[in-house]
Amino acid sequence: MASNTIPYFHTLPDKDYQKVVQYARRRTYLPGDVIVRERTLTDTFCIIETGKVEITKKFADGDEMTLALMEEGDFFGEMALLDQGPRSASVKALTETTILELSRESFEQLLLEEPPIAYGIMRELGKRLRETGALLISHLERKNKELQEAYLGTVQALVNALEARDPYMKGHTERVTYIAKTIARHLQIDREDQFALEIGALLHDLGKIGVPDLVLQKPGPLDTEERYRIMEHPQLGEAILRNIRYLERSIPSILYHHERIDGKGYPSGLSGQAIPLFGRIISVADSFDAMMSDRPYRHRMSLSQAVEQLQQGIDQQFDPEVVDAFLAALEAGELDSILQGST
Ligand SMILES: [Fe+2]
Repeated sequence: MASNTIPYFHTLPDKDYQKVVQYARRRTYLPGDVIVRERTLTDTFCIIETGKVEITKKFADGDEMTLALMEEGDFFGEMALLDQGPRSASVKALTETTILELSRESFEQLLLEEPPIAYGIMRELGKRLRETGALLISHLERKNKELQEAYLGTVQALVNALEARDPYMKGHTERVTYIAKTIARHLQIDREDQFALEIGALLHDLGKIGVPDLVLQKPGPLDTEERYRIMEHPQLGEAILRNIRYLERSIPSILYHHERIDGKGYPSGLSGQAIPLFGRIISVADSFDAMMSDRPYRHRMSLSQAVEQLQQGIDQQFDPEVVDAFLAALEAGELDSILQGST
């Protein structure tokens, strides 16, 4: 960890430092020598007397992260004093380095015989552990973000395949996703759920991949059989994605986006709050975008007509809270980019 403060053992009065030295064993390492190997057991706390070391940690995916570069007066191996587990990081000498090694046993002795010095060291260890924890958390957050971007990339590829088949879907998925995310923000849904909803919105019509071209691209009204084929798409989508674990939380968006609050929707005929929230959100986003788009058999509505339709659908087709959140976003101008035809 980069630090501008003076390494702890350089701040100790010389007489205290000399006392610590009495409890320690001194060892010298050459450049490149491994002082501590990750995942091995050691019980020594190490103070750098002279030289420079690098502390690294390996992750399961093979990624290696430099946790810290340390110089004389600094220390490492603090966990060795606290538990008997394997070391969580490796330490390598970058220059010729002299280390004062303090075993757990000798530290316990220091604690008994020189408590103020030992407590001072322990306070410093606590501070260091907190800093290391914060560093690891920020690394994990970055990894998580990279993973989310990779998921989105894969999902986008599926969406592109779907949109390539159906010219009327071009741009629809992107707009529905944008609207759903905006509604979710207004409903103050937490960030992880927002991400799951985003994936769900992108994939909400994936099941249409299993609907025949003749039905999907039919320019006129559909007959009963054709309507039935279309109505299978939420379950088809769910069946395609059901075994992908990271998509588990997004499935309700796909399966329930055609349910209605009055229970007259499909595929399950759920009503009211029994419809998962993601389904209720996508239903509003999807319906609004459909009303605002030209279809082979009808022209798009005006904004005021679409808003009126949403309001009339409250408690029949739509959840009142979700419509309110949508209208608040609209009022705040947060959907202007959609209405102008670009996100
Ligand atoms: Fe749909």
